[in-house]
Amino acid sequence: MTRTLGAHGPVVSPVGLGCMGISQSFGPSPARPEMVAFLREAVDHGITFFDTAEVYGPFENEDIVGEALAPVRSDVVLATKFGFAFDADGRQSGVTSRPDDIRAAVDGSLRRLRTDVIDLLYQHRVDPDVPIEDVAGTVKELVEAGKVKHFGLSEAGAGTIRRAHAVHPVTALQSEYSLFWREPEESVLDTVEELGIGFVPFSPLGRGLLTGRLTRESTFGAGDIRATLPRFAPDALARNLDLADLVTAVAQRKGATPGQVALAWLLARKPWIVPIPGTRRIERVDENLAAARLELTAEDLAELDAASESVQVVGDRYPEAMQRMIDR
Ligand SMILES: NC(=O)c1ccc[n+]([C@@H]2O[C@H](COP(=O)([O-])OP(=O)(O)OC[C@H]3O[C@@H](n4cnc5c(N)ncnc54)[C@H](OP(=O)(O)O)[C@@H]3O)[C@@H](O)[C@H]2O)c1
Repeated sequence: MTRTLGAHGPVVSPVGLGCMGISQSFGPSPARPEMVAFLREAVDHGITFFDTAEVYGPFENEDIVGEALAPVRSDVVLATKFGFAFDADGRQSGVTSRPDDIRAAVDGSLRRLRTDVIDLLYQHRVDPDVPIEDVAGTVKELVEAGKVKHFGLSEAGAGTIRRAHAVHPVTALQSEYSLFWREPEESVLDTVEELGIGFVPFSPLGRGLLTGRLTRESTFGAGDIRATLPRFAPDALARNLDLADLVTAVAQRKGATPGQVALAWLLARKPWIVPIPGTRRIERVDENLAAARLELTAEDLAELDAASESVQVVGDRYPEAMQRMIDR
């Protein structure tokens, strides 16, 4: 069971693995050797599509992924991202897609990933100061140099996607998409379908909200990005969990978990959609992969659509400064 990303893209497991959480964003990170072993086990369990980024860590996440997957490099598809700037202390400071910065980022990613080619290289956020044609042209040169196989964009709007695609084919768009956040249906899905571009939903479990594991009493501690996200503020969470409750009702009827239903709903929408749920536990990798075998009937899908339409999601998905980086 595999899926192809875009018209000529890589063939990958129907569910990938988002690696961000192995070193940041969800509270204290597990020990590095544990995560190296976990990533290798994920390959043994059927994951062939791994998602990381230069900015995760920064830098450390790619290094862990690189160490873990070096022994099985030819069996997996590695996706990473450039596009953030860093200050002298290595802390993220705004965006940059200046051609020189892209080239330097790619050399760093190749080194940390312990590989001579990146299978899928995304621009992480659109840089308003650099025309997207210059970005696509730089990636095209990197493809010609053999350092990159496929070009992707993340959170880019339809106009940007078209302009980039005219310079060098875009293989995949990675943007947030789930029952919790359906905006891509209005903004970009028609465009990527028309252009033969694959779609990689990030945060496909709504950063945990759709798994049924969060409660109205859940709190988020230091190092957990959800402590900073308006949708997870106590009042917003209490309302937003109404959606999780509706997904859980469908899951119970299907003998599945809510997370599996959330992933199966995405997979049912288009054959070129490949979600990348993030987890640090092998049993959850198995659970998430098994979503690809969960068949949702037309009635199930209609019920889920109605559920997501009936719950008005409360709170922005990012704090204001991060929200401004979204290109629409
Ligand atoms: N392009 C971008 O701008 C962007 C932005 C955000 C994320 N991403 C990518 O997308 C990936 C996934 O997004 P995400 O991590 O933000 O959100 P997500 O995949 O929607 O949710 C991750 C959360 O769900 C939990 N979880 C995962 N599987 C579970 C299961 N079967 N049962 C119960 N809980 C489960 C994880 O906890 P445990 O780890 O404890 O299992 C974690 O708390 C990231 O790793 C990253 O690669 C990209």
